[in-house]
Amino acid sequence: MVAQRKGKKRTEQTGKQSEGKKNLVPIFIMGQKYMVPDSLTIQKAMEYAGYQLVRGCGCRGGICGACGTVFRMPDSYRVEVGLACQTVVKPNMYLAQIPFFPANKAIYDIEKLSPTGEVVAKLYPEVFKCVGCNVCTKSCPMDIDVMEYVARAIRGDVAGVAELSFDCVMCGLCAARCPAEEAQYNFAILCRRLYGKYLAPRAKHLAERIREIEENRFEQSLQTLMDADEKTLKELYKQREIEPIMAEEDWTPEDNSFV
Ligand code: SF4
Ligand code: SF4
Ligand code: FES
Repeated sequence: MVAQRKGKKRTEQTGKQSEGKKNLVPIFIMGQKYMVPDSLTIQKAMEYAGYQLVRGCGCRGGICGACGTVFRMPDSYRVEVGLACQTVVKPNMYLAQIPFFPANKAIYDIEKLSPTGEVVAKLYPEVFKCVGCNVCTKSCPMDIDVMEYVARAIRGDVAGVAELSFDCVMCGLCAARCPAEEAQYNFAILCRRLYGKYLAPRAKHLAERIREIEENRFEQSLQTLMDADEKTLKELYKQREIEPIMAEEDWTPEDNSFV
């Protein structure tokens, strides 16, 4: 179950209690009709209708990708998709949530791979089954050119897939609609992992900071914080220097006792 219904059922009848105050519209959640305010997202409408979301709900802000939803309007044959927390209800929409889609997910040890197209093709051979229909791109709530990154995967361009798929929230809607049964988001995250581990330029400042940590440069500062009482910690927090919004890349606080 993606959701459990709790409490009083707000069907067409009970929803009338608040008519006049709110503009209520009918929607159908898994076949059952409910009257819900027309300003709500699908996610909030489901809760308004009495569902307690125990799966298919995470950040509520369009970031975690947990709330993939399919819906259909009565005057159209088309199946539409969206994130429940970002899509506002439409009168008479029929909807169901698909918080998890069982797409192919390869198991691998990133330490034993190399950043090549052959590796991606071996773990996800179905990538070559793409028929170029572009449904994945049209389904993507993040406006990612999914078909193009699939094409890059076919060409063995690991860095290109990583770059194009960077905003993917792993909602699975592209895979759910794909006629070639691709697992776009799963091989895209493989490419991002390969890129991050083997291809991305190393950050010099990160290497420097790791060296400092290994040399125990911050032990004294950490001990000071651990020994401080709550009042002192609050004062230190209030007094901290905050990086200006338009700071130069090499900005550092004047007091570097804690950095
Ligand atoms: S939906 Fe599937 S088959 Fe169609 S373009 Fe995307 S990956 Fe290729
Ligand atoms: S690429 Fe696929 S999984 Fe990623 S956000 Fe777009 S539709 Fe969702
Ligand atoms: S709840 Fe996280 S994207 Fe909708």
